[in-house]
Amino acid sequence: MQTIEELRPVVFEAIRAGYRLIDSATVYRNEHILGQILKEVFADPQFNIKRSDLFITSKLAPKDQGYDACYKAVIDSLNRFELDYFDLYLIHWPGTSKTKLLDPINEENRTNSYRALEQLYNEGKLNHIGVSNYTEKHLRHLLSVCSVVPHVHQFELHPCLHQPELLKLCSENNIQIQAYSSLGEGALINGKIKIECLDNIAKKHNVSVALVLLRWSVQHGRAIIPKTSSTARVRENANVFSFELSKEDMRLLDEIHTYEQHRFCWDPNGVY
Ligand SMILES: NC(=O)c1ccc[n+]([C@@H]2O[C@H](COP(=O)([O-])OP(=O)(O)OC[C@H]3O[C@@H](n4cnc5c(N)ncnc54)[C@H](OP(=O)(O)O)[C@@H]3O)[C@@H](O)[C@H]2O)c1
Repeated sequence: MQTIEELRPVVFEAIRAGYRLIDSATVYRNEHILGQILKEVFADPQFNIKRSDLFITSKLAPKDQGYDACYKAVIDSLNRFELDYFDLYLIHWPGTSKTKLLDPINEENRTNSYRALEQLYNEGKLNHIGVSNYTEKHLRHLLSVCSVVPHVHQFELHPCLHQPELLKLCSENNIQIQAYSSLGEGALINGKIKIECLDNIAKKHNVSVALVLLRWSVQHGRAIIPKTSSTARVRENANVFSFELSKEDMRLLDEIHTYEQHRFCWDPNGVY
């Protein structure tokens, strides 16, 4: 868990650099701290920012799956942030804590959680609702039972993890994709995994490999939520809108998954 002293300068710098989306989650254990920092932002005239200028997201912890637990968890999240509404709330993971991966109760629980999100959406406490880490199978089931089509699906997506069926399903249903681990949790940029074409494209545009990876997602129409603990890298990543990748660059980046595959975060494929 980060301290308020660690998080404050990064959030302040992000707001100054033009970031307006905050991606939190109950499992990150930073909702309370972020809420405090955002209060300082709203109160400080140097930022000139009000609540409606920001897009604040949080997510349901896997231990809080089910209708009643999810409803209460959202209210608790709002209370920790000291907010009246979230711009987006996601079911963080298709499974339930302390439940076997293959237990069919996982499907029942997340369906009931989603019903609670629909209720909170209708009550105006959540402006958008969605899911995270759902496979194509999980999402197809949800689409067959939901009354509000998820607005957003947040999942791991970068040139080394290609998920064509999931991308197609989101696009057919107008679900906004939010890519996480765009930088491979750092491994695609710190030399752990070397991909020549990434270096070449970065050199050609005179930008960092991090910016090439972020720009690739943006040019595909996906939202990005890069993480950094450094104020300098907060500023650097904000330059994602300052250059454009060519069609040939995009083609080369789209091909990477054919020779280099990695998943850096959790794999939801085993969850019933
Ligand atoms: N829904 C989910 O299940 C899920 C799972 C994972 C992540 N997420 C969300 O996605 C966000 C980001 O994903 P992630 O944590 O997997 O990692 P990521 O954004 O792929 O990579 C973050 C790493 O890259 C480094 N970094 C960032 N910008 C850089 C730059 N310009 N140059 C060099 N290094 C740079 C950071 O190090 P420094 O801090 O040292 O800069 C950090 O170690 C998270 O904060 C979270 O909000 C969601």
